Amino acid sequence: MTETEAPPAIRCVALTKRFGQHTVLDGIDLVCHAGETNVIIGGSGAGKTTLLRLLIGLEKPTSGRVEIDGEDIAPLSEFELNRVRRKFGMVFQYAALLDSLTILDNVAFPLREHTRESEKKIRAKVLDKLEKLGLNERVLDLYPAELSGGMRKRVGLARALMLDPKIIVYDEPTSGLDPITTRTVDEMIEQARKLFGVTNVVISHDMTSTFRIAHRVHVLVKGKIVESGAPHDVAKSARADVREFIEASGVDTANISGPDR
Ligand SMILES: Nc1ncnc2c1ncn2[C@@H]1O[C@H](COP(=O)(O)OP(=O)(O)OP(=O)(O)O)[C@@H](O)[C@H]1O
Ligand SMILES: [Mg+2]
Repeated sequence: MTETEAPPAIRCVALTKRFGQHTVLDGIDLVCHAGETNVIIGGSGAGKTTLLRLLIGLEKPTSGRVEIDGEDIAPLSEFELNRVRRKFGMVFQYAALLDSLTILDNVAFPLREHTRESEKKIRAKVLDKLEKLGLNERVLDLYPAELSGGMRKRVGLARALMLDPKIIVYDEPTSGLDPITTRTVDEMIEQARKLFGVTNVVISHDMTSTFRIAHRVHVLVKGKIVESGAPHDVAKSARADVREFIEASGVDTANISGPDR
């Protein structure tokens, strides 16, 4: 990297996280470049969600660094961390919408919490994001239970985009979805990157979806990132455990399409 180049959106250096005696993350080195889709894969309990929580400053590292846009966030106070968290939008597993609120109220939630805009303006902003993601005015007054799984994901993404984040983080966005809905969610993730210019960080154990959307794949095994690279390179990893993890999913690694640049 030359000195004039912007720092990566995310960089972790020797990042370690322990809970008591249990070392969950054991010296993570990770770089996510701005504007790319980064997929972090790994088995159940590998520490994927913990890594996400460290990236957004919800947990403090035991040691090591987390840099967001070149800034080490480990020493920051809770007050300063809120500024860093504003750079992130989060799409939770199962969309995590509030069942008792309408779609309008769900998506408007971050604006009402963090800004003092008029209701009229809020409604217009909510509708703008929903329309960009392929939904229309008719969903505003519906409740989450009245939408399909794929539509709920779009609403979850619209909510994550409300404060115009630079990085969108998805924790297992396609788990529990059928293959067709999975495909539409993958398209949505790619669309978000292109339309809003965000950096995507996706946690997944769905290999089909990983190879469809990833510019970079990072493999988490026993608390370490053991492989990072372009999908076709990671699929040919020199490590047998990485190849097995990918091959066990049955995905056809000879035909990796990947996202448009
Ligand atoms: N706050 C905590 N206190 C103690 N242990 C924790 C805490 N958070 C996570 N862990 C432990 O860290 C390990 C990794 O958990 P994590 O949720 O990060 O895994 P994961 O890769 O997201 O798994 P999954 O694929 O099942 O979602 C688990 O053994 C979990 O019990
Ligand atoms: Mg998890």
